[in-house]
Amino acid sequence: MAGRLPAIVIDNGTGYTKLGYAGNKEPQFIIPSAIAIKESSKVGDQASRRLARGIEDLDFFIGDDAIESTGYSIKYPIRHGIVEDWDLMERYWEQCIFKYLRAEPEDHYFLLTEPPLNTPENREYTAEIMFESFNVPGLYIAVQAVLALSASWISRDFGDRTLTGIVIDSGDGVTHVIPVADGYVIGSCIKHIPIAGRNITYFIQSLLREREFGIPPEQSLETAKAIKERFCYICPDIAKEFEKYDKNPSKWIKKFNSVNSITKQPFEVDVGFERFLGPEIFFNPEISNPDFVTPISEIVDTCIQNCPIDVRRPLYKNIVLSGGSTMFRDFDRRLQRDIQRLVTSRLKVSQSLSQGALQPKPIEVQVVSHSMQRFAVWFGASMLASTPEFYEVCHTKAAYEEHGPSICRHNPVFGAMTKTPLAFQVLLNILSINNVLVVTHFDKH
Ligand SMILES: Nc1ncnc2c1ncn2[C@@H]1O[C@H](COP(=O)(O)OP(=O)(O)OP(=O)(O)O)[C@@H](O)[C@H]1O
Ligand SMILES: [Mg+2]
Repeated sequence: MAGRLPAIVIDNGTGYTKLGYAGNKEPQFIIPSAIAIKESSKVGDQASRRLARGIEDLDFFIGDDAIESTGYSIKYPIRHGIVEDWDLMERYWEQCIFKYLRAEPEDHYFLLTEPPLNTPENREYTAEIMFESFNVPGLYIAVQAVLALSASWISRDFGDRTLTGIVIDSGDGVTHVIPVADGYVIGSCIKHIPIAGRNITYFIQSLLREREFGIPPEQSLETAKAIKERFCYICPDIAKEFEKYDKNPSKWIKKFNSVNSITKQPFEVDVGFERFLGPEIFFNPEISNPDFVTPISEIVDTCIQNCPIDVRRPLYKNIVLSGGSTMFRDFDRRLQRDIQRLVTSRLKVSQSLSQGALQPKPIEVQVVSHSMQRFAVWFGASMLASTPEFYEVCHTKAAYEEHGPSICRHNPVFGAMTKTPLAFQVLLNILSINNVLVVTHFDKH
């Protein structure tokens, strides 16, 4: 691909958009998926806004600028991972490309991501905007879960690189559990868990409200979020953890310092049990929500059990984490331990029911955690879009003009790096990534 400019990779999440150039380890920009527009009383919905195009069209902000703007109305064009307002999405992409990346879209191939179960129509809309409004030379739309799977290859030996695995993608709004076999999502088996980053933040906010009085009310959400990201972790056993804190509070209780944004007075918060109780709602959801009580480990186990029998073992062996809310320390260990317990006890039951006639082969459970997990989807996309094969699978402008947007309804799976170890190694060297495979035994801890 000599002389070709790098592809542009954009991962639009419900909460944050990650954007940058292929070949990088991390996205150049991580900005809220928010857009602030001027809205007159007449111009409300999508259809009438389209009619009212004019100079005010240019008067909008995206990302942090949108959140901080005053006198504009803030919109989120993506809901539950799926684009809901195409007009706003187009404007959002416009600023991503011209204002943030400062790129000429005619000069770059594009890789965009989509959630599981996105519709073919949505891919057509995306293609229309990309080819017609931005005049891009090539476009590929990749499934986020498949990208997250390929991102995990950085922690694996060549022989273990596979596009079969189950992805736990936990962002801000929702957690998806997505089984993938040979690069294809097993759509009928996907599970959604209504617990993700936002719920943990709210839960910590409510815990702090009961105990800490120094936090300015208008800053309580951002304080809870900062505390979550900085101090929270997953423990092996809550009862023992409480005991630990009671015995030696000074060792475990942390101080969070910040400044009141209005009075400019500093304030301090003691962070105690919140540290482990916050993310515990993944494993014991009933502590915050009486309507949803199934632990994440059980959901993953059921999800795999629903899949075709021949992929179950490989799925248990390759449970891959992705997204900001899987970043809590020891999330991988706890999940691995809890799923392994469920699986082993089920095997024991079937063994005893058969009175020893059945000797089931043990099932190995492995949760894969790696250094690129926070932006796994973007990173996977960045790697794939820097292989020569990417340019072969992309839909080109010429093909679009000849056949129309329907060509983008389908995007062929490609896995160049599973086939050619050399290409992958070269890529890793370019990205200068350290190989670390995290295999853990939580019980012994
Ligand atoms: N170090 C961290 N520890 C815990 N949580 C974190 C950490 N860093 C970020 N988060 C949380 O991760 C969430 C954002 O994750 P991510 O960027 O994967 O979501 P998204 O892709 O925008 O959303 P979605 O996947 O729901 O569409 C936020 O709730 C944020 O608070
Ligand atoms: Mg996401």
